[in-house]
Amino acid sequence: MSLLAAIADVGVDRRRGGYSRHGFDSAELELRSWFTAEAAARGLDVETDRNGTLWAWWGAPGDGAIVTGSHLDSVPGGGAFDGPLGVTAALEAVDLLRGRGFQPGKPLAIAVFPEEEGGRFGVACLGSRLMTGALSADKALALTDSNGVSLAEAVRAAGLDPAGLGHDRVALGRIGTFVELHVEQGRGLVDLAAPVGVASSILAHGRWRFTFTGEGNHAGATLMGDRRDPMLPAAALIAAARRAASAVEGARATVGRIVPNPGGTNVIASTVDVWLDARADDDARTRAVVAAITAAAAAAASDEGCTVAVTEESYGDTVVFDPALRDDLAAHLGGVPALPTGAGHDAGILAAHVPTAMLFVRNPTGVSHAPSEYAEPDDCAAGSAALADVLEHLSR
Ligand code: HGY
Ligand code: MN
Ligand code: MN
Repeated sequence: MSLLAAIADVGVDRRRGGYSRHGFDSAELELRSWFTAEAAARGLDVETDRNGTLWAWWGAPGDGAIVTGSHLDSVPGGGAFDGPLGVTAALEAVDLLRGRGFQPGKPLAIAVFPEEEGGRFGVACLGSRLMTGALSADKALALTDSNGVSLAEAVRAAGLDPAGLGHDRVALGRIGTFVELHVEQGRGLVDLAAPVGVASSILAHGRWRFTFTGEGNHAGATLMGDRRDPMLPAAALIAAARRAASAVEGARATVGRIVPNPGGTNVIASTVDVWLDARADDDARTRAVVAAITAAAAAAASDEGCTVAVTEESYGDTVVFDPALRDDLAAHLGGVPALPTGAGHDAGILAAHVPTAMLFVRNPTGVSHAPSEYAEPDDCAAGSAALADVLEHLSR
């Protein structure tokens, strides 16, 4: 908790509440410096890889490494625990292991991945997707933020060479096992009265951008029958998201972001951008929900004399964490529960490449991606202790 307190003033968003810390922006760069200092104070050697991921090594870097860590960026107006808890627990786990005279039997590192939330450039898990090749350098270099700043400019300002972005087989190849600790984003542990759990799976999930185009005009001078207002199909999409996801067991669909252009109170928008986040237990159901929403949006656009363009911005199929590793860690921790999650993680990207597990820390309300996100100090301590035990167990 003292480590989290040390960064409590970084990236505070006074308009939204909570924190807005995004890939390579000033707040996240400040958090990187903080992490680098905390790691160095523990005798860990910190390096930054080609994609901007930080690696704090206990001992020489090498293959078969036991890697833990998470992310420091947030959603807009996010909470204090999503991401940072995994990083502070890793630092505390190093302290606990040092305190019991532990020396790693294998290379051991804490990784901090950039732009996990995709809050600036729109693609979730940007750093881990680049490292694993799930996102090509070309597609990444085409990304810009809402101010038109390109990813290339942002990483250059952070001291990286944009030409280095892309599939990093060396960095990926060193990982023997990856374990990410994360505040639970849900009430599974609360309902089970357990402070710590392990992850079993992650929902299939993706993000789609819908651009509706109509005719910009004057709000007062344009008769209702003469309008082609893209806000109407945008509204139909939002309602269709709720309808389509509610009709499929376990599916979720959300519109949390809508940007009319030009965005004047007395102006009929010329275009409206709407982002859809859709998730379900498997690929087929996710695609079915998105198809139903897309059909409703297209019909509404046609009714209003508008056009619609749809772009899939990111997608990941269902992740099932390595069952043997999951059960081994759960048993090692005394039989903690295994829980599915609806939230994506860098661990979800790495799971397709290396044996990967997640530890969850109880969230008393289950609320996340909101300023009220919280975890009790005792549960955070239980999480760090569990992570220390897991790292020691894996490094034997
Ligand atoms: O969106 C997610 O599920 C994750 O928090 N990036
Ligand atoms: Mn998140
Ligand atoms: Mn997270």
